[in-house]
Amino acid sequence: MTNRVLPVVHNDRESEARTPSQPLLILPSEARDAFDPMPVLPPVSPREADLTRIAPGRPRASGDAIVVTGRILDEDRRPVRRSVLEIWNANTRGRYSHIRDLANPAPLDPNFYGFGRATTDDDGVYRIRTIKPGPYIARTDIGWWRPPHVHFSLLGGGVRLVTQMYFPNEPLNEKDYIHMTVPADERSRTIASAVQPDVFQFDLVVRGRFQNFV
Ligand SMILES: [Fe+2]
Repeated sequence: MTNRVLPVVHNDRESEARTPSQPLLILPSEARDAFDPMPVLPPVSPREADLTRIAPGRPRASGDAIVVTGRILDEDRRPVRRSVLEIWNANTRGRYSHIRDLANPAPLDPNFYGFGRATTDDDGVYRIRTIKPGPYIARTDIGWWRPPHVHFSLLGGGVRLVTQMYFPNEPLNEKDYIHMTVPADERSRTIASAVQPDVFQFDLVVRGRFQNFV
């Protein structure tokens, strides 16, 4: 076996050579969808959309039970039907049921798993029940507290979108380094609306100009 000596590259002209010389064609969305490999997913049970109990008949988790509901839309504001949502959030004390959160001194709740799934209906509407998450400290060295938030992962409309939902009127929102990455005039789209004290509406756009921020 001989050692091949690779040429020393002093610039990035190789990537220039790969750049298309002609304007790109925009594929119609129908064609994009057709190219997407979509795994056959196990059917989502309606029970999976209720995170407030880990199983029927078990005690309800601690904290404030809330409903999060909204519509999943594509860039033309058409409903994304039968989209599969995964959501996860910390418990009322700001602790995740996850091995990566072992250093968190906040207590686990034996009645809160913190992960669920739901599908959208023909109008693109989803509805989940969960416990309003508490804030948690993300970086002790710089005192960075994350505001209450719910994580979303959506499969549908030809994309997988991973994003977060914030709650209204939370003072920590404006100090959160992740929330601050969203341009100021777009931040309101990342915050749910309280349509009732315990019901929050959060619509998501999966792609295009108004795609939700990741
Ligand atoms: Fe989080």
